[in-house]
Amino acid sequence: MSSKLIAPSILAADFANLQRDIEMVNSSEADWFHIDVMDGVFVPNISFGMPVLKAINTHAKKIIDVHLMIVDPDRYIKTFADLGANILTVDYEACTHLHRTLQAIKSENMQAGVALNPHTPVSLLEDIINDIDLVCIMSVNPGFGGQSFIENTYSKVHQLKELIRKKGASTKIEIDGGVTNKNAKQLVDAGADVLVAGSYVFKSNNQPETIKGLKTLANS
Ligand code: DX5
Ligand code: ZN
Repeated sequence: MSSKLIAPSILAADFANLQRDIEMVNSSEADWFHIDVMDGVFVPNISFGMPVLKAINTHAKKIIDVHLMIVDPDRYIKTFADLGANILTVDYEACTHLHRTLQAIKSENMQAGVALNPHTPVSLLEDIINDIDLVCIMSVNPGFGGQSFIENTYSKVHQLKELIRKKGASTKIEIDGGVTNKNAKQLVDAGADVLVAGSYVFKSNNQPETIKGLKTLANS
């Protein structure tokens, strides 16, 4: 079984010490940088945009996983590729022509991800799952860090894992929102491959140890 991955969410980093926090992730056991881009329309919050992503990319030495929470993401696919995104995730609820959007992401040599809001059933992916490299199951309502984990997520992970198996897809399952040492193991047991963690990592007193602890739990 391939190893389970940890993706610290930079949304919870100290933006006044962004380089320091990026270097911390570089030298930790984390696998990916998770970067949340919010437009204030798809979600009720604005995070940061291209100049910040460019600065992150200058220092980041690991996979850059960009999670878009924006309407009409097709407008910016090439821009995010040029900014160094390795994985680009769009929202199921923001894409009228999801199949076309995913092909456009792949044509820019990025992996294509789809995020599902907590109310969106995984069964809606039945006819597109083989085209998706990563499904990001939102375990909080998107827009803010530091929210509580929604327990219904476990059942969604089980259902998605089963759909992936049934269709013979190689899609990874990522969980985003409220991830801590309290739910990491159960999420992986349900079928998760990638755990995003923002507040739990960056608000801890020893960030590298917190990442290491999550990685150990996820692979236990
Ligand atoms: C929420 C973002 C998350 C957020 C997770 O909309 O997509 O990536 O940073 O933060 P925590 O881990 O604090 O819930
Ligand atoms: Zn995210």
